[in-house]
Amino acid sequence: MEQQIRSPQSIQGEIAPPADKSVSHRSLIINSFAEGTARVSNFLTSADCLATLSCLKSLGVSIERNGSEVIIAGRGMKGFQRPEKSLDAQNSGTTMRLMAGLLASQPFTCTITGDESLRSRPMARVIQPLNLMGAKIESRENKAPLTITGGNLHGIQYKLPIASAQVKSAILLAALTANGQTVIEQPAPSRDHTERMLQAMGATVHIDGLNITLIPESSPLKPLDMKIPGDISSAAFWMVAGVLHPHSRIRLTNVGMNPTRKGILEVLQSMNASIIIESQRLEGNEPVADLLIESSKLQAIDIGGEMIPRLIDEIPIIAVAASQAEGTTVIRDAAELRVKESDRIHNTATELRRMGANIDEREDGLIIHGISKLVGNRCDSHGDHRLAMTLAVAGLIAEGETIIGNSEAVEVSYPEFWNDLKQLYG
Ligand code: S3P
Repeated sequence: MEQQIRSPQSIQGEIAPPADKSVSHRSLIINSFAEGTARVSNFLTSADCLATLSCLKSLGVSIERNGSEVIIAGRGMKGFQRPEKSLDAQNSGTTMRLMAGLLASQPFTCTITGDESLRSRPMARVIQPLNLMGAKIESRENKAPLTITGGNLHGIQYKLPIASAQVKSAILLAALTANGQTVIEQPAPSRDHTERMLQAMGATVHIDGLNITLIPESSPLKPLDMKIPGDISSAAFWMVAGVLHPHSRIRLTNVGMNPTRKGILEVLQSMNASIIIESQRLEGNEPVADLLIESSKLQAIDIGGEMIPRLIDEIPIIAVAASQAEGTTVIRDAAELRVKESDRIHNTATELRRMGANIDEREDGLIIHGISKLVGNRCDSHGDHRLAMTLAVAGLIAEGETIIGNSEAVEVSYPEFWNDLKQLYG
């Protein structure tokens, strides 16, 4: 599918961004380990989260879904059933890696695979620690499909080579049924939704700076009823659209404000963006707020180091912001972007260049020289949801028409994206 975008006179309105993708996956997976029934509201019914739902059903978990309301009947720590067929994680790295942790914890053999993009992504990062815990994993050169024989695990002390929430979560899920404690040493903080949820459900998880210790318990996990907060990674597209368009005022409601995810907000504010944070509150175990965004004149910024994992998924849209900021923005230490749903360093640079942005590609990031006038052109999402939405925002401020190929990729995290975009046209 294609979408055509033209810059509107103004951008205004109120949007409740879709539910958080990371928290939605975890609400299903971790509640499946509990004993009892959990009710989850505002669940994200996007392709990625539905892939997780379908994998869990194949493992015998009873899940009823009515729109965005989901009821999960947990199976306890060791109650999953061996599925009849391979599991399909589709395009979802979170499904593949977290399910690898779950499968390692269960005493049967099961294969998990995914689409072409997912089958090309690195899996050694989960295979290695799960092997150390005692799981047996066959793969095609450390890529999916993975055939996992789990059970009988022992705890490990593990130094994570990369700051990855997916890898950390896979280890923590496997650690739930292991003998003895597991200690994970992180190089930098990454999103901590798994730790928060496990703690809220009664697991013994101690956080000491960058170290996480999980002590498996004989007592079961309690089911956790929750309302999923809005996804700051999806809200990010409207933050940048609102800041860059010269006539805009957008209110974003119920946006997740977890400190391990807020890098985008901090970076935009440091660039001089007018973003007012209102009604900060806690929902479930996660902080949320409403955001008021207005047109702003941006300054370039340097982004690297510990900040990167806190905004890893927002780097393509930050590149659009930087193309309209005075000065040169440098993004470094972000080589991980090359192994996301697509090579986001190369594809962001290539596609934004087509629209007139002045961007240099580096092995581990991007250098963006502002301010460039953007001009509409034909471009492509490369099947990557975040790239489709990034190009849409570039189209909102470009002169002339922008045509985005493979625009259906947004289904992965934000199925209502194109409708919400039309709502903002003033
Ligand atoms: C996610 C973690 C991040 C992020 C991905 C979702 C998660 O990946 O890029 O979109 O839900 O744990 P890594 O942990 O591999 O960096």
